[in-house]
Amino acid sequence: MNRDVATRPYADQKPGTSGLRKKVPVFQQQNYAENFIQSVFDSLDGYAGRTLVVGGDGRYLNREVIRTAIAMAAANGFGRVIVGRGGILSTPAASHVIRMYGAFGGLILSASHNPGGPHEDFGIKYNIGNGGPAPEKITDAVFARSKVIDRYRIFEGAAVDLDTIGLSRLGPMEVEVIDPVADYAALMETLFNFDAIRAMFRGGFRMAFDAMHAVTGPYAKEILENRLGAPAGTARNAVPLPDFGGHHPDPNLVHAKDLYEEMMAADAPDFGAASDGDGDRNLIIGKGIFVTPSDSLALLAANAHLAPGYAGGLKGIARSMPTSAAADRVAQKLGIGMYETPTGWKFFGNLLDAGMATICGEESAGTGSDHVREKDGLWAVLLWLNILAVRKEPVKAIVEKHWAEFGRNFYSRHDYEAVETDAASRLMDALREKLAALPGTRMGDLVVAAADDFSYHDPVDGSVSRNQGIRVLFEGGSRVVFRLSGTGTSGATLRVYIERYEPDPAKHGLETQAALADLIAAADAIAGIREHTGRAEPTVIT
Ligand code: G1P
Ligand code: ZN
Repeated sequence: MNRDVATRPYADQKPGTSGLRKKVPVFQQQNYAENFIQSVFDSLDGYAGRTLVVGGDGRYLNREVIRTAIAMAAANGFGRVIVGRGGILSTPAASHVIRMYGAFGGLILSASHNPGGPHEDFGIKYNIGNGGPAPEKITDAVFARSKVIDRYRIFEGAAVDLDTIGLSRLGPMEVEVIDPVADYAALMETLFNFDAIRAMFRGGFRMAFDAMHAVTGPYAKEILENRLGAPAGTARNAVPLPDFGGHHPDPNLVHAKDLYEEMMAADAPDFGAASDGDGDRNLIIGKGIFVTPSDSLALLAANAHLAPGYAGGLKGIARSMPTSAAADRVAQKLGIGMYETPTGWKFFGNLLDAGMATICGEESAGTGSDHVREKDGLWAVLLWLNILAVRKEPVKAIVEKHWAEFGRNFYSRHDYEAVETDAASRLMDALREKLAALPGTRMGDLVVAAADDFSYHDPVDGSVSRNQGIRVLFEGGSRVVFRLSGTGTSGATLRVYIERYEPDPAKHGLETQAALADLIAAADAIAGIREHTGRAEPTVIT
């Protein structure tokens, strides 16, 4: 039976670049999730009788909110819900399922790489019919609606069996529980040379994939072990847990330190990789070499033609502004378009839909292509495997040859987490004020060539996004970028992105932080990081 429930709005339901993210106890407040979901539905037009995809990364609260979302979809007039068994769908798999089944849109429950558990993070994101994150026009409408909402609509009575594949009904609505892995795995088989990868594993190639107790476990088991014949145990930490085993499911050198150390040892496997909470990020480590996400984007773009899905070449490459310029030189060599967008995957959607870009990437370990409208961790891992299977060279050799040909972009991101919000805004305001005076400033050997606050003019829809991060460019192609995170859940996070372009192969062996030392000092001198935040060191260096 449909029921209208009276409610009062919460004032803090503003979706960020990746949906609404809050601590679990916030989501557990009465009607909190219901209000947000109803605000989403109230901001959409034309979904009556259509399909909604629902799934999440399995974190704490996933099942409860999945049930609520399904019951609310039924009462609001959706014709069908497609949900992954057990409420599981990785973010890229959800994007694929939305596209493949021609759904109206989807609700993805995740807080990505943030920890899970009763006191950790939860999130809800709405994706549109192209499979990508909702554009600002919709998220603004959702926020506006959430501030005045006074009722939500829910179907009460029966409950759906989330654990049995097949069709059932919830009142007037059909519910289809699908295998969360099958459609996605089939898509991967169309893009990559599974025969070549299988032969590589048969030949003794060793890989370690860390699913970090998060959503990619079942995907990696099925694709790597069952379909590609990698030895059992290649996918580790492969059972999704509500609290990710108490770890941060963030595939970086801090949270995947064990994997990193294993890959640096003398008897390391040939290839190491990891993915995050919801499966859209990737970490790539070769034997004895960590591949930065910015380099990985450039390398994947330069070698993509070796995979069947990209044999016809790339239409263009897109990267977020703070991502290093390594991919730019690949685009130049290939004679294809290069697009620099603000941080956040949603900015790639128009370029992908318009056929202007094929491969996209962000420095934050996100890489993907036009096969879905989200970044895709396992996709990046499989493209790497395909390249390794065809080139038959170690990761390290492939990376070093790439640097020799294109030059190396030393790159690091320094994060200052949980900074007092006002202090962070003061730092950014002060930076903005001094931008105009920076060009020409000499700092040791560095000379500032230009400085600005990045604005993006979308070439497809003409929209303009301003204040997307402060760029200080130095002569010779090095730069530092400052921006505040849009995804944190406590205080502010200042991100400082540091990049040095080095064409000389004799210098490619330098250690990254050492290679960047003068730029790191310049960043502090320009932004007054210590002075504003009181921090002498970043919280996380990646
Ligand atoms: C971070 C990353 C960004 C990514 C986003 C969602 O956002 O930096 O590249 O798109 O998470 O995964 P930020 O916290 O920097 O706003
Ligand atoms: Zn993620």
